[in-house]
Formats: sequence, C-alpha cells, structure tokens
Amino acid sequence: MKIGIFDSGLGGLWTMKSIVKELPDYDYVYLGDTKRLPYGNRSHETVYEFLCEGLTYLLKEKDCKIVVVACNTASAEAVSRARREFLPKKFPDRYVFGMILPTAEEAVQFRRVGIIATRGTISSNVYPKVIKKLNPKTKVFQLATPLLVPLIENDGSTFITEAVRDYLKPFATKKIDALVLGCTHYPIIKRTIRKFLPKNVAIISQDEFIPDRILLWLADHPSVETGLSKNKKREFLVTDITPHFKKLAKVWFGKNLKLTKVSLG
Ligand code: DGL
Repeated sequence: MKIGIFDSGLGGLWTMKSIVKELPDYDYVYLGDTKRLPYGNRSHETVYEFLCEGLTYLLKEKDCKIVVVACNTASAEAVSRARREFLPKKFPDRYVFGMILPTAEEAVQFRRVGIIATRGTISSNVYPKVIKKLNPKTKVFQLATPLLVPLIENDGSTFITEAVRDYLKPFATKKIDALVLGCTHYPIIKRTIRKFLPKNVAIISQDEFIPDRILLWLADHPSVETGLSKNKKREFLVTDITPHFKKLAKVWFGKNLKLTKVSLG
C-alpha cells in the first residue's frame, strides 16, 4: 500500500519534496485538486466535501494506507471531521495525517506566536484553539494573507516583496518570537519572509519538521509501516492540467515530473 499526499493544488509538492527526501523508499501518490483550487476562500462545508472526495480517490482507487493532507486549509477545516465521520464509516482501517497538530506542537515551544495562512485556515480559528489547549501560556496572533498564494503561483516576485512587507508589519508591535507559515505555499518564499522579520524570530515551516513527524508516526504504527510498499514509485495526479500547471509542477518538484489528470466525485 502507498502513502497519499493531498493538496488543493500544487503547493503541496513542496511538502511532498521534503517528505520524499527524508523517506525516499516508500511509494507515493500525490493528488492536487487543481480544478477547484483555491480552497482558501471557500466555505468550510465545501472544503470538507472536496477533502472527502480526494480521500476516497486516494484510499479506494490508489490503495493508500495513509493520506498526508498537506493543505492547511483542508487540515484546518475538515481533517478532524473526516476522522470523526468519514473514515470510521467508509475506511476504518486507514489514516489521515493533518498539518495542524504537528505545527501547533512546534509553535508551543514559543511564547508569542504569529500565524499567517489563508482566510479559511484563519477563520476556522483552529490553530489558536489547538495551541491554547497544548499550552495556555502561548499567545497567538493570526493574520489572513490571501494575496500570497496567487502571487506565488503567478511569478509575482516584485509584488510578493511588497505584500510580505505589508502583511508582516502588524507583527512588529506584537513582539512575536516565532512565525508559523500556515500554508503549503509559504515555504517557497521563506527567504523573503525572513528578510522582514527580526533575526530573533523563528520561522516554523512545515517542510522542516513534517517529514520527521511522519517518520515518528510510522515508528509508532509498525503494522501500518510494514504494509507500505517500498519501490520508490511516485505518481502525480491532478484534477485539471494547463500548460501553466505543468510548468509550475516541474519548477517546484523537478523536470521529470509527469502530471496525470483524474476526476473526483
Ligand atoms: N493549499 C492551501 C493551503 O495550504 C493553499 C492554496 C489554496 O487556497 O487552496 O492552505
């Protein structure tokens, strides 16, 4: 059986790249819902529906034992509900690994934490809730930064610098000591973000700790780990292909990547 990686689009390729680097032997299937991207501005109900369709495809058609939901918006709004309602009914022997808890566990090592993410992730309020539960002393300041994803996807580098500068301004007075990059795309502009943060502010970036967390999870679930196939196969599925998506995917993951179009729902 394989490891699935789900995202609303192609940003999750960055998360996948870091996972594959640390855990190269397993077989992976990436599924990006490019047809319905972005998820960040959609309702919670719709994101839940889309996530369940993506999970069904990966668990049923692609025989994945575990799906890593790289998309923060889907992790924030829909992963716990899918674990409560969808998995027990439809796929009781499969697992879904979301971004929120591992990221919150990194965040609670700090006292004053800023979070940037899509509107959907921020309005779900799930990061502050989970962080407060883990450590009531950690203060959380969150901000929706909806312009970043479209700029990153459209080579808007000159505008990105200005957008990042502007978005990060309010955090200066909050005296944060760490900033969570709560979106698949933000590690791509980590260097720009670094430029506008004081040196003592740590950046919490999922590409840097999610692979370790998956490694630990697999070590804690030996029966799952032994059932995973290890032929170094990678498959890249999307729900829509355009020349721009093709180009972006190659730039973000490597020139040998081949996208295959599939239908969900
Ligand atoms: N993948 C989404 C996330 O991490 C960003 C793109 C979108 O809005 O769908 O929140």
